[in-house]
Amino acid sequence: MKFISRSIIILCALSVLCIKTNAEDGHQLWLNKRPPISVNIICAKKSAVLNIAIKELTDGWQGPSGKRFTLNLSPEKSIKGDGFILDDAGIRANTEFGILYGTYEVLRRQKTGKMAGNLASNPSYMHRILNHWDNLDGSVERGYAGSSIFWRNEKNAITVTEKDKMLWHEYARANASIGINGTVVNNVNASPLILTSVYLKKVKDIAGVLRPYGVKVYLSVNFSSPVKTGGLKTSDPLDPEVKKWWAMKIKEIYSLIPDFGGFLVKANSEGQPGPQDFGRTHADGANMIADALKPYKGIVMWRAFVYSPSDKDRVMQAYSEFLPLDGQFRENVIIQIKNGPLDFQPREPFSPLFGALKKTAIMPELQITQEYLGRDIQLVYLAPMWEEFLKSDTYQEGSGSTIAQRTAGNIYPQQYTAIAGVANIGLDSNWCGHDFAQANWYAFGRMAWNNKMSSGDIAEEWLKQTFIQNEPEFIEPVKAMMMASREAAVNYMMPLGLHHIFVENHHYGPAPWFANKDLRQDWTSVYYHQADTNGIGFNRTSKGSNAISQYREPLASRFNHPDTCPEIYLLWFHHLPWDYKMKNGRILWNEMCYRYADGLNEVRKFQKTWDQVQPYVDQQRFYAVQHKLQRQCRDAQIWKDACLLYFQQFSKRPVPFDIERPV
Ligand code: GCU
Repeated sequence: MKFISRSIIILCALSVLCIKTNAEDGHQLWLNKRPPISVNIICAKKSAVLNIAIKELTDGWQGPSGKRFTLNLSPEKSIKGDGFILDDAGIRANTEFGILYGTYEVLRRQKTGKMAGNLASNPSYMHRILNHWDNLDGSVERGYAGSSIFWRNEKNAITVTEKDKMLWHEYARANASIGINGTVVNNVNASPLILTSVYLKKVKDIAGVLRPYGVKVYLSVNFSSPVKTGGLKTSDPLDPEVKKWWAMKIKEIYSLIPDFGGFLVKANSEGQPGPQDFGRTHADGANMIADALKPYKGIVMWRAFVYSPSDKDRVMQAYSEFLPLDGQFRENVIIQIKNGPLDFQPREPFSPLFGALKKTAIMPELQITQEYLGRDIQLVYLAPMWEEFLKSDTYQEGSGSTIAQRTAGNIYPQQYTAIAGVANIGLDSNWCGHDFAQANWYAFGRMAWNNKMSSGDIAEEWLKQTFIQNEPEFIEPVKAMMMASREAAVNYMMPLGLHHIFVENHHYGPAPWFANKDLRQDWTSVYYHQADTNGIGFNRTSKGSNAISQYREPLASRFNHPDTCPEIYLLWFHHLPWDYKMKNGRILWNEMCYRYADGLNEVRKFQKTWDQVQPYVDQQRFYAVQHKLQRQCRDAQIWKDACLLYFQQFSKRPVPFDIERPV
């Protein structure tokens, strides 16, 4: 008995000692502390939000010592939403969150050595949202950084500990520091249980911690919730009982969380229920929920990620299904569209829906977690990919109709603008699994705030803050490595427009050979690369699936002809013979060999770069990244060898002898 009670005491003491959060573990992301310099903050008003701003400035100030700095809430026309103006005297904003975002900008400028001076900054999107694919049992779909920070497998006894709250607090602070103002806390493949009162109580607690940092909570919902948890016989969106059920549920949520953001819905996609189960359209389903949310100013983010095995070309389905509904959605519905028409591949052309819908609010969905880009194992900085996407010209209203412009509401008006990123966050002590994966979370926030920001500037900012380093000997080579990393991954995985030749299910390694007669064809690799002795690539021209017709001119014609199709998309749109002549004079087979080898060689260079900057990095991070680069190099080699050996049986040509040039 004595032994047991002593053990209990020891266990309790240990668990108290273990209440350590990521920040206390030394992983402060880009918010590393430096010794503060004194500052005199003047702020006429007090509130939870402004207190955070004052504390951040007091704890983090790196400007002139003893400076008087004013936080001023003053209505100004040039400031939009939670934007702000900085000048030498302080921060001006129309909202308290504007002051908070201005605060983080001041500190960022000080830490990154940017000149003080005037700056006016307005957000590109009103809603800048993380999507957590977190399941209620604590697992994270496509998550590589440990279990969920929100859920664990608790069934009916849902608890919230002090440690949870401390972690959510750090999470909220990190998000606020880069302008993220919303989070969907559960998986798009949503369990209906999320809308039951035990779970809603926890959502209320999460919202309470995130609120002063301006991070609103949203939920993914299952379209059959009225049947699965509400006891109704149908979830038909036109049924009055169903409408009533959603209205009651939404009322309950707002009574708990008055600033609740709204719902994210994956419907009639990959087996999820939806309005089509009742012969209704996406608009019928989305509008029914939107009407119930409207009195509370809530929004519905309705996903356009739909496809079916019967379709002759999977990448065309979202356009075919959503274009006829253009103009039928309520103003508080936003159609959430993945950047590419397939599924977060290392490179895809943009989804044609971005250039097609005119009377419907739309928002991009990016994937921060590296499902198809090396998980937490590979150093792949995603911001250059997002920059490429946002700068893509849809030609919707003539040249210059970029996706950045369209989705920010600058081409067609939309009441709500938004952008979402599928989070890469978990309980791992460094938050994201790979130390450099933190840069992808950071970059998503920065681009959501300013969708014209360059990926290079973001990389530099992140490096300087995260490694507390301004030395060019560190910043320049490491920034160059980050900037080259996405193209390297494209090259060693699937260059020249190849796509989805991954191993089934886990999506990590190569499997161009993957075929399975019993499985739907659009889940196999051979369907996507179509390699045979005649050549390789998916014919999406006017003589093939005609997916090019979903793009506006001049893109449709440009993509339709191999001579004018950008080589980065060549095999996405064309099936070409192995001896097709590339612009540089090489034949296609040889070019593929060089690209695969270039990708691998780049990773070897990354290893050298990293080894050279050892003096600038703490041991823990140095060895962690070095170790991961070794694995990345091995896996890049596997990708290259596996793909070239597989395709060689069709090309029947030798691999050029000089592809493996010394680094
Ligand atoms: C991909 C991913 C799934 C996810 C789906 C989605 O297919 O592999 O895990 O559920 O996208 O975005 O809904």
